[in-house]
Amino acid sequence: MISFDGSIFHLASANSSYIIRILETGHLDNVHYGARLTDLTGYENISESFDLNIGTLPYADEEHPHHFPARILYEYSTAGRGDDRAPSLEVCYAGGLNTLDLVFSGWRIFSGKDDSFPAHALSGASTETLEITLCDALAGVEVRLFYTVYEEEDIILRSAKIINRGISPLRLDSAASYCLDFPFDDFILYSYDGAWARERCEHRRILYPGIVELDSKLGCSGSEHNPLVYLERAATGEVYGSNLIYSGCHRELVEVSPFGKVRLLSGISPYCFEWTLESGQAFCTPEAVLTYSDCKEGAARNFHAFINRYIVRGVWKDRERPVLVNSWEACFFDLDRDRLLGLAEKASGLGIELFVLDDGWFSSRRNDSSGLGDWWVSEEVFPDGLEDFSRRIHALNLLFGLWIEPEMANRDSELYRTHPDWLVEIPGRAAAVCRHQYVLDITRSEVSDYLFDRISDVLSRCEVDYVKWDMNSVLTDYHSVQGSALGYPHRYILALYRLLGRFTEHFPGILFESCASGGNRYDLGMLCYMPQTWTSDNTDLYHRLAIQEGTLAGYPPSTMGAHVSASPGHQSLRVSRIDSRFDVAAFGVLGYELDLCALDEDDTDAVRKQIAFYKEYRRVFQFGTFRRLRSADDGVIWWTASLGDTTIVMEYVVLNKAHTGRCDRLRLPFLDRERTYHITKRPVHIDPACYGSLRNDFHKEGGEDCDITVSGSILCTCGISLSPQFTGNGFFPSTRVIGDNGTRMYIVKEAES
Ligand code: GLA
Repeated sequence: MISFDGSIFHLASANSSYIIRILETGHLDNVHYGARLTDLTGYENISESFDLNIGTLPYADEEHPHHFPARILYEYSTAGRGDDRAPSLEVCYAGGLNTLDLVFSGWRIFSGKDDSFPAHALSGASTETLEITLCDALAGVEVRLFYTVYEEEDIILRSAKIINRGISPLRLDSAASYCLDFPFDDFILYSYDGAWARERCEHRRILYPGIVELDSKLGCSGSEHNPLVYLERAATGEVYGSNLIYSGCHRELVEVSPFGKVRLLSGISPYCFEWTLESGQAFCTPEAVLTYSDCKEGAARNFHAFINRYIVRGVWKDRERPVLVNSWEACFFDLDRDRLLGLAEKASGLGIELFVLDDGWFSSRRNDSSGLGDWWVSEEVFPDGLEDFSRRIHALNLLFGLWIEPEMANRDSELYRTHPDWLVEIPGRAAAVCRHQYVLDITRSEVSDYLFDRISDVLSRCEVDYVKWDMNSVLTDYHSVQGSALGYPHRYILALYRLLGRFTEHFPGILFESCASGGNRYDLGMLCYMPQTWTSDNTDLYHRLAIQEGTLAGYPPSTMGAHVSASPGHQSLRVSRIDSRFDVAAFGVLGYELDLCALDEDDTDAVRKQIAFYKEYRRVFQFGTFRRLRSADDGVIWWTASLGDTTIVMEYVVLNKAHTGRCDRLRLPFLDRERTYHITKRPVHIDPACYGSLRNDFHKEGGEDCDITVSGSILCTCGISLSPQFTGNGFFPSTRVIGDNGTRMYIVKEAES
């Protein structure tokens, strides 16, 4: 609900209020963003008094000697008028001026939202938008601020449109999607950073005066810094979350001012961004998604609900995602039609639903140095064609999926030999290279037309059901025959969205999964086109704990690809049990990425049971609420997924310590105290060989028994003691044999009365 009483705008959602006032000077000032206010009587007393003299700071004008720009909580900050915090908008006009003074000039409230930016959130039935117009008449700059409220999810979407109302060109040097100023500074910042194979690991830092900038400059949203951030108030635990619906270079900036205030900006990175607007032209920023909650878990829940409802779209929205097998780590480039069919046959027998043919199926692509860009089927691998192969996959009752990497080419390709000028490369200087491949200039229509035509032909003829859209290099050597290198990264992303839009409109039934060297482009922009993302090439179960937790901090499990791979793991050489690898992968969209035909009988049986179990609880895993619980023992990690009357709990034992009489305690504080629960365990295969030379007459197939009925009030408060883990000092039928990097999965359901 959005209202305006002549002096303040109130944007109210179920649990939050966002209040803006118009100052006498015409500037906007944030009065409150936080818990929902139901009665605004006396709201004038919320903001700091202006009767405060601050040394030599400049004030707005002679009539307003106490309006210090450095203390105002702006909605969109600018430079040159005394606010020395980071500006949201930097411009150059009239041949060199950069001072901007944006004052209120109008507003409107309308149902629905502004969808000018190509990757945008959807409207809901009751979605409302507030549009506030600010102007600097001298500079000829108009800024429209958009605030869209999603009441149930406690989300406020923000974006800005900058219009050149002058007669000469206006240069934009930076344009954030929003500015959010807080009147307090006791914040802890959470960010999600990393690199290949360790994407989106959570980092927590206390803020001190100065600036923290998370700047991604690689031409994609990147694994260095995800656009997702949280600010948590140390005093109250309240949390503000921010994410960006964008897939290119981005910057999140947090500034603590000397006056006890914090500014948060997020948007396109100013790095290599320069955008010239001719008279009358407009520039739209990507949309940013803001949420408020009384705790971090609640803020994550808001994001999950919002993404499932308003970011993911098309026929796969809200639909359970198929269990897949992917050929990559099973075969790499060693593709052979009959071997692939053998893998598919085995997969189908185990209950897998989708077969994904990864890299290597086309042209001369027998390794990563050749063929990329040549989108026709390799006759060497598929002598009877890919149509025939896809028919055989469908005949096995499997969906058929295909890997593509449209945005790139090898120099050793027909594409490059025919069109050497299609690469993003500066004439006279060979472009930097990553994995023997180069970025194609998709901002040129002839390049994107070629990609669309060639790839569409394969997708239609082979009746493809799923596409994994990869991107294995960052952007370098910005250059295009189409215009300046400055601004190129943004133009590239706009062209990418156009191309993705063409594919998704033309193939509405295909389930697209985005990938970029693993999870290098896990962002809301890509999720507008592709309902799933490959989380990381690193499928090691221990490493995945941090990667998946960091990912689930802002993105719902229905978007997160998680695969069971071989042991020893290809990224860590760690040896682990297949059931433990499954238990970790089950918390996302499950897949298998190993040679299923090489599994022994026990592991084959384990996989069959895993898939049946996953299908039974798939909705809980993919659309439930994920929680990581605190544990008294830092060697034990607890994950839960809850939906309706079911909670699945995973206990992950990092290191089996010599327990001195203490048992692991299962406590689920979020359950209903008034109900009674029944707890069982997913049966596990324990290899008798794990006992080595020990007498193992205590061995029990399926593991220890677990059949517990307990009240919600006990589970919520004290929790229950689980039977002891094996530590060498005696055996009982209830002893749990878990081991290092071992797991147990419990099913907690409301008991029938
Ligand atoms: C990237 C992806 C992998 C796989 C390979 C194929 O590394 O992340 O999953 O598809 O490319 O070349």
